[in-house]
Amino acid sequence: MDKKTFYITTPIYYPSDKLHIGHAYCTVATDAMARYKRLTGCEVMFLTGTDEHGQKIEDKAKAAGVTPQQFVDNIVTGERGILDLWKLMNISNDRFIRTTDDYHVRAIQRIFRRMYDNGDIYKGKYVGKYCKPCESFWTESQLKDGKCPDCGGDVYDAEEEAYFFRASKYAQRVRDLLTGTDFLQPASRVNEMVNNFIDCEGGLQDLCVSRTSFQWGIPVDFDSKHVVYVWLDALFNYMTALGFENDKYDDLDKFWPADVHFVGKEIVRFHAIYWPAFLMSLDLPLPKHVYGHGWLVMDGGKMSKSKGNVVDPYILAERFGVDALRFFLLRTFPFGSDGNFSNELLISTINVDLANDLGNLVSRSTAMVEKYFGGALPKTGVSESVDDELIAMVKALRGRYETQMEKFQFQNGLDEVFKVIARANKYIDETAPWVLAKDEAKKDRLAAVLYNLLETVRVCAVLLTPFMPESVEKIFAQIGATACERTWESAEVFGALHDGVTVTKGEAIFPRIDAAAELAELEKLEKAAKNGGKPAVELEPYAAESVDFDTFCKSDFRAVKVKACEAVKKSDKLLRFTLDDGSGTDRQILSGIHKFYEPETLVGKTLLAIINLPPRKMMGLESCGMLISAIHHENGEEKLNLIMLDDNIPAGAKMC
Ligand code: ME8
Repeated sequence: MDKKTFYITTPIYYPSDKLHIGHAYCTVATDAMARYKRLTGCEVMFLTGTDEHGQKIEDKAKAAGVTPQQFVDNIVTGERGILDLWKLMNISNDRFIRTTDDYHVRAIQRIFRRMYDNGDIYKGKYVGKYCKPCESFWTESQLKDGKCPDCGGDVYDAEEEAYFFRASKYAQRVRDLLTGTDFLQPASRVNEMVNNFIDCEGGLQDLCVSRTSFQWGIPVDFDSKHVVYVWLDALFNYMTALGFENDKYDDLDKFWPADVHFVGKEIVRFHAIYWPAFLMSLDLPLPKHVYGHGWLVMDGGKMSKSKGNVVDPYILAERFGVDALRFFLLRTFPFGSDGNFSNELLISTINVDLANDLGNLVSRSTAMVEKYFGGALPKTGVSESVDDELIAMVKALRGRYETQMEKFQFQNGLDEVFKVIARANKYIDETAPWVLAKDEAKKDRLAAVLYNLLETVRVCAVLLTPFMPESVEKIFAQIGATACERTWESAEVFGALHDGVTVTKGEAIFPRIDAAAELAELEKLEKAAKNGGKPAVELEPYAAESVDFDTFCKSDFRAVKVKACEAVKKSDKLLRFTLDDGSGTDRQILSGIHKFYEPETLVGKTLLAIINLPPRKMMGLESCGMLISAIHHENGEEKLNLIMLDDNIPAGAKMC
């Protein structure tokens, strides 16, 4: 019998900037679903990619002084770019599409022409409002407080000759699709779509599907002044990547229609209204589901590149491990709703679920098998009633997990697993293996208790495979599970682990994190990342002893000219300055900066000094004031620069 197939996609992301944790969230969810389906025996096609055309990219490339193609190539294939990120995050996509790929470009031109030929695309004139970052046209009534209803940004008056897609013709069919089927999930998103875009005043409007105001797009091949609207170009990626209207691939019959498109809630409109309408126009089968997931927000606002409040997945994956990050994203936030991201939550999830609950279960179980049985555990089958609840829970687990996974409820699926893990930890306390171990007559019972624990670990590890593929391999190795004891089928059976299994207690798979120290370190790293890789400067907190304004005004800062400068004998550090401070009398200041300057290089410079500090003796010489310099750190080393003033400033000029 042919394997069941499963086709799943992420949105294709704009390579207008580095991706952030929000993009990683959707891609990790899609990856977990793809891995889950493979585990259950499906033949999976998992597609992700990049949406590379449009005005935003054209503008960014221009600002960077490179061509749009060079710009996107760097973000997609460059170091720490999108491809690197997915590799790091252990994303198992089968295909990666770039909308600048030749086969896609040609396919889009054919698709556009087909819709033109069948009368669903026609030429007209657009008059309305335009939002640049969203590349969307809006009517006055669609604006929210005069701003773009999607991103809240400014909109501009726009008027251009354009091609339009007859979306209005499909309004009723799309409405039926949304209200009469489970096409759009979660169901809570249906009303918003229908009310705002179909049942609104004027009904579903025809969609403007070409642009003449910029070049970076796929040219309409029969009217080269126009480029294809980026959303028409982008949405069809889901089919061109399978071979629609091109010969590069030949998987359409096998995988189309898609089982599900995972998309963020802000682009549900395109996927739930225009995408089905485009497909209807070409008489093509519709995807089975579109799932609009929630946003990761920070302090209440969507994390987004334009707001600059983004979290870098590289930093988190490198510090906590890819699996811990993947797990956190899907364990913590319900997929359909928004979730408030914080480093505190990330660390506490790792500590509570992974280090404490799962990590302890694995390490306690394997340690006891090593200690009491030298690592080889016999299957004795000596049962007691205290086992019943745990075994019943483990037996029911796969089914309960499957129900949630089939609904894309990752958080609930994981919750089922972690309920069993918690129950198993309680079982250790109930059965007290260390007490059984004291009585030789209870050795077989002890073996059975430990076997039940390993079996629980094994089933949980199978079901955690889609979320933490590398860590479960380590767990399987520690509990000695063979290949056939790691399968989906084996997760339905309690007792699959073989007799005499060899257990090796290894390193802690999820070490506990010192939250306070880690948070401080993360804050530094994130600041440094925002600072273009330079470490963040720690500013003194505004303390109670802050200098008040009057005191500050008493400080006498003056421009001084260096008349002479020499190293102080027997001192490594000190330089002796003879300065003109404008008073007519030379001023002597000593400064411990020889490490940074050779004295002769400073003669003639105009510096800044505070001159009303009480005189101080250093190495028997009097210093009357202090030269002002700027100090910073580079690669852990202190750097110092004297503040040099413009030489036009006369000696004695007062700074205020
Ligand atoms: O919209 N929280 O690309 P895009 C959760 N090219 N998910 C987030 C997120 C956040 N804060 N920020 C982004 C586009 N995402 C189009 C798609 S598809 C034919 C074309 C995720 O780079 C989420 O899945 O703006 C969202 O829909 C997607 O990234 C948008 O990525």
